[in-house]
Amino acid sequence: MSLTLAIIKPDAVEGRKVGPILARLEEEGFRIRAAKFLRLDPDQAGAFYAIHRDRPFYEPLKTFMTSGPVLALALEREDAVPRLREVIGATDPAEAEAGTIRALCAENKERNAIHASDSEETARWELGFFFSTRELLGGA
Ligand code: CMP
Repeated sequence: MSLTLAIIKPDAVEGRKVGPILARLEEEGFRIRAAKFLRLDPDQAGAFYAIHRDRPFYEPLKTFMTSGPVLALALEREDAVPRLREVIGATDPAEAEAGTIRALCAENKERNAIHASDSEETARWELGFFFSTRELLGGA
């Protein structure tokens, strides 16, 4: 079993897609290990997406990710990282495979409903960004 990090983004929270997305993730075999509903501040959003700081979409992405609350999830499954990437689909919903979460819930490349870690190494860093070791082990 392995863990990955998902964030249900402000557009999906505002659009009342949290329930359907969680149901889909559970149907796909993911177990919720830890969850946090929070509003990121600009420094937190900037730090989380620091890898994109030189990209033209960095500032708009920060503005969007701080525009409302998000639900951060530590998700457990066999091959969690690649399986979650498959289930959510491509960044741009216009390119996402039919039936993926982004094909179903995302509006566009920026307002794309959900984030998922893109590698095992990223997952370790992103899980640590939101959760303590104790929280990831199932403690309070
Ligand atoms: P996410 O999986 O959260 O990782 C980085 C985010 O940057 C991505 O989803 C999109 O929300 C956003 N993003 C990536 N490429 C673009 C783009 N070309 N224009 C706007 N936003 C983008």
